[in-house]
Amino acid sequence: MKGIILSGGAGTRLYPLTKVTSKQLLPIYNKPMIFYPLEKLLEAGIKEILIIVAPDHCGDYMKVLGSGKEFGPGVRFTYEIQDKPVGLAHAYIMAENFLDDGDSSAMILGDNLFDYDFTSAIQNFKSGGMVFAKEVPDPERFGVVKLDENNKAIKIVEKPKEFLSNLALTGMYLFDHRAVEIAKNVQASERGEIEITDIQNWYLQKGELNVEVLDGNWIDAGTFESYYRANQWAYDKEHKN
Ligand code: G1P
Repeated sequence: MKGIILSGGAGTRLYPLTKVTSKQLLPIYNKPMIFYPLEKLLEAGIKEILIIVAPDHCGDYMKVLGSGKEFGPGVRFTYEIQDKPVGLAHAYIMAENFLDDGDSSAMILGDNLFDYDFTSAIQNFKSGGMVFAKEVPDPERFGVVKLDENNKAIKIVEKPKEFLSNLALTGMYLFDHRAVEIAKNVQASERGEIEITDIQNWYLQKGELNVEVLDGNWIDAGTFESYYRANQWAYDKEHKN
């Protein structure tokens, strides 16, 4: 399995912090934000990683992350520049060449921080799709999944206006190679983006989507409140002993 880190976007909700740099390069306690999702892929044994960045700060990403060599033997980074933030599903279209030998991928968002260890989910993944949900107090901010009594997904909606469930879909996605073709056929949503939830729904309708409910903390650090919480979380992890 290969890895993808989606680190595009303008980070406007964190303005003026993002005036001169990218959101995912901002510090979270003692490391740039993107190190946390990167470490989740590395921890699971993924070595080939595509990093998708916005054009404004692409040089800074290369300075901070380099070739991958510093992160361990055999670790190799490839970079793609996303001209406009046209939606998460677009990452799969950009990854078409990177996934050229029909590989499955684990895509993680550059501003998503997890306690959870994805190693066994990643190493046991065979085909279809797998997503990770977490109970939140503000589901209207996220993609949301409704599960039946056997923990099977029955419905997924991006930023539901009416309450569906309080299980948000976090920014970690395991999909087989079909995600590339599916993404090409996704139509833009009302907010003008090609939504990751449309890919999830494709697998759901085929009966090939598994959902795991996560233990531990999950933080999407894209707002001031959650960015602040992320710093506290990272500090606490470093000082827990
Ligand atoms: C995106 C996805 C959403 C997901 C969230 C996780 O939202 O569209 O489904 O729950 O990331 O962080 P966005 O950050 O684009 O609002």
